[in-house]
Amino acid sequence: MRFRHLALGLLLTATAAQAQQPVQLTVQPGNPKLIISKHIQGHFAEHLGRCIYDGFWVDEKLNVPKQGRIRMDVVQALQKIKVPNLRWPGGCFADTYHWRDGVGPTAQRPKMLNLWWGDVVEDNSFGTHEFLELCQLLGTEPYLAANVGSGTVEEMAGWMEYLNASHDTPLVLQRRQYGHPEPYKVSWWGIGNESWGCGGNMTAEYYTDVYKRYATFAHDYPGTKLKRIVSGANGDDAHWTETCMKQIPLNMMWGLTLHQYTLPTGSWTGSKGSATQFDEQQYFNTLRNGLKMDQVVTRHAAIMDKYDPDKKVALLVDEWGVWTDVEPGTNPGFLYQQNTLRDALVAASTLNIFNNHCDRVRGANLAQAVNVLQALVLTDKEKMLLTPTYHVFDLYQVHQDAEYLPLQFQSPDYVRGTEKIPALNASASKDKTGTMHLSLVNLDPNKPLTLEAGLPGQSWKTVSGRVLTSAKVNDYNTFDKPNAVQLADFKGAKRKGDKLSVTLPPKSVVVLALN
Ligand code: AHR
Repeated sequence: MRFRHLALGLLLTATAAQAQQPVQLTVQPGNPKLIISKHIQGHFAEHLGRCIYDGFWVDEKLNVPKQGRIRMDVVQALQKIKVPNLRWPGGCFADTYHWRDGVGPTAQRPKMLNLWWGDVVEDNSFGTHEFLELCQLLGTEPYLAANVGSGTVEEMAGWMEYLNASHDTPLVLQRRQYGHPEPYKVSWWGIGNESWGCGGNMTAEYYTDVYKRYATFAHDYPGTKLKRIVSGANGDDAHWTETCMKQIPLNMMWGLTLHQYTLPTGSWTGSKGSATQFDEQQYFNTLRNGLKMDQVVTRHAAIMDKYDPDKKVALLVDEWGVWTDVEPGTNPGFLYQQNTLRDALVAASTLNIFNNHCDRVRGANLAQAVNVLQALVLTDKEKMLLTPTYHVFDLYQVHQDAEYLPLQFQSPDYVRGTEKIPALNASASKDKTGTMHLSLVNLDPNKPLTLEAGLPGQSWKTVSGRVLTSAKVNDYNTFDKPNAVQLADFKGAKRKGDKLSVTLPPKSVVVLALN
């Protein structure tokens, strides 16, 4: 009997030693002027693989709800997450695109080869008017990328006149003839894309001169003040950002971009890693690579601060996401990949990073919306599914244009061998009705994580929340089981005295509302 007590005592001691002390987290009061721009939750639709054709824009005969050829079940899913802006037509495709080929009677539009993506014939049936109709259905801001790599200043200026002018010029008469009497008022314009690479392989020094020439002829038509956006750096290329900030007058740019993808293997050559078949080490590596976003953004933001201490110029991470090998048997040029709980954890962590840098990061675009890379929606003929990443955007929409609330905490580590990453990441905001939202991510796949949050100066009584998790980190939704990974109500948060006590399940994203 004595022995049994002793054994029980030892067991209790060991369990207590293993149990994690609650993380102490403080939600600090915000500054009403510091807002998390809704545009951080922007998306991207390129003429690539099955994003536009077969994704948004489908065959007339496909038996799904449609407006014209726009697929309405996809539109409705995206309406629900309030897409703030949609970037189009690329990507690399943008620097091969000639907008005049995509307006006018469809049958008369010239075809072209999509040289970047799969060498397929592009019939231009989805062009400017169709894209802007899609944006109108989504209630989203169009973000156009002008062709700098293989286009001309005249071509870009003509596109702006076609869309934004109201005088009786030949281009405006044509727009009216093609069905849009009023100006479209498109204000977001990227001047080129990846001009260091597929957009022309330019040096930063050369591009900044080219940019200034294009930006000079990007005209503000009455009622539409343009947001001129500089094509920015590849990952941590500090020289590119430094050169743009040094050479381009601040009043000639509204934003500067940055592209940063997460590759599971970290390598652009050879395998990038499977989207669905990976072990815990590969899971860890992907998260570690994804969290680099924080360093990369911090580095570029610090350079921007040197030239623009008042933070007038927005940093737009207008391409980001997990990039894996394509699904076996699919066209390698179509970049079609599945999307697991792991990718949702990367998305949630990345959005937390952007929220926590909202003084400078005022826009971002996940690559890409449908059927390409880390998609929100996948389609297969009539079928459609929402990926785990979609659910993250559903959870995080509460942060759109809300007041930023800084957080303080020390995260426990998630350790693999000699490496470690923070197990916990988080961000918080207060919306216009006074509700506070806290988004919490536990990256540790094996351990729950408890925390106690103090909210000095804030009054709240009730807490509710939703959670995204699953049995395995490589769980994903299929057309046969479209709800394998889905949101659920979260019961792991309660008020304890004046504190909020939360237990996050392993490998989970939780968003709490405090009222
Ligand atoms: O998103 C896919 C491609 O990645 C884009 O076309 C390009 O800009 C980037 O390299």
